[in-house]
Amino acid sequence: MSARLFSFIGGDTGLWRITSVDVLTGEPLPVARSLGIATGPENPSNPASAWVLRGITSNERYVNREERNLIVAKQLALGRPEATCAALIPIRKNQDWWALTQNERLSIFKEKSHHTQIGLQTFPALARRLHHCRDLSEDEPFDFLTWFEYAPADEWVFNKLLAELRALEEWGYVEREIDIRLVREES
Ligand code: HEM
Repeated sequence: MSARLFSFIGGDTGLWRITSVDVLTGEPLPVARSLGIATGPENPSNPASAWVLRGITSNERYVNREERNLIVAKQLALGRPEATCAALIPIRKNQDWWALTQNERLSIFKEKSHHTQIGLQTFPALARRLHHCRDLSEDEPFDFLTWFEYAPADEWVFNKLLAELRALEEWGYVEREIDIRLVREES
């Protein structure tokens, strides 16, 4: 399990410098200048950190075989040298979403919102990793931590995708969303 657990640490240090924070819905996070990412089970207790968000990668809930094959074939790896821009977008969905059955959620995610199909159109520009917080505890401040990396020239692709996703029925269930943009510090 430990290799699947990620901690996103906002504070004064870290590989990524925060360039903007856009609070779309709900409560903001405390101010931070940089972001570090830690993997593994240890609970990072850096006293200088403004916040720590934890999430775990998990099995997929919504993709069929065809989509899975496309994702595996086309998805870029994280950590490409040219992908010097990133976005961390923590998201929490509301009680109405979690009160639905899995089939009802599937219908909204897939048949009504086409989330995966829309996202796949952006390949191969974007690399992504989805972390589930609810698999750790329902007391985490967010349900999902979404992480994306891209080259500066592809920022418009990412912004266009976000505008499309935020107009979907699925997003009507989002009650907290913060769009944190970052650039990788030169080492
Ligand atoms: C880069 C293109 C993208 C692709 C290919 C993509 C694809 C997917 C797929 C396949 C899933 C379902 C995983 C499963 O089966 O459990 C998913 C879930 C999710 N994606 Fe995306 N996505 C993309 C971009 C985005 C963006 C830009 C956001 C916005 C922040 C986002 C937010 C989410 C969230 C919150 C979930 C979890 C939904 C839930 O379980 O209720 N995705 N994405």
